[in-house]
Amino acid sequence: MGTGRKRNTNLYVWTVMVLGILYQRYCYGSCPESELEKREESANIVLTGTVEEIMNMDPVHNTYSCKVRVWRYLKGKSKVNGEVLLEGGNKVMIGGFGDPGICDNEVATGDTRIFFVNMAPEYMWPAHQNELMLNSSLMRITLRNLEEVEHCVEGRLHF
Ligand SMILES: *[C@@H]1O[C@H](CO)[C@@H](O)[C@H](O)[C@H]1NC(C)=O
Repeated sequence: MGTGRKRNTNLYVWTVMVLGILYQRYCYGSCPESELEKREESANIVLTGTVEEIMNMDPVHNTYSCKVRVWRYLKGKSKVNGEVLLEGGNKVMIGGFGDPGICDNEVATGDTRIFFVNMAPEYMWPAHQNELMLNSSLMRITLRNLEEVEHCVEGRLHF
């Protein structure tokens, strides 16, 4: 009797656990990602662009940089200037690909994405001087994604 009840309790616990895990996977994916609004807030620059060239690995952080042709700035265009702009002004270097702290962090040459980035902080110089650093997951370019990002950007005033 006692063992029967115990088995039932165990079965119950297992069922709840498995359902919990499935629910989490289904609703949030296997990697936790902040809300778009938070991601937009923590990135000073948001742009769409195409990966033209994959550059060397950063041996310290095990990440890599890419030369990206910029199509459009959704946020922070005025912050991107001077030495950051490459080859006549429509390309930038973006670092931090492969960063395990970012869920969707991998690109291949020719990929076009929405990039959430910040200027490389000074402690990352000189390796990443004049580079932008990936700040959160890459996003596919769809009309819906573009509209959602623009909506977040327009929700606040940026100077
Ligand atoms: C993203 O930028 C914020 C500052 O806005 C910073 O605190 C955070 O560490 C950055 N995240 C990554 C993964 O670099």
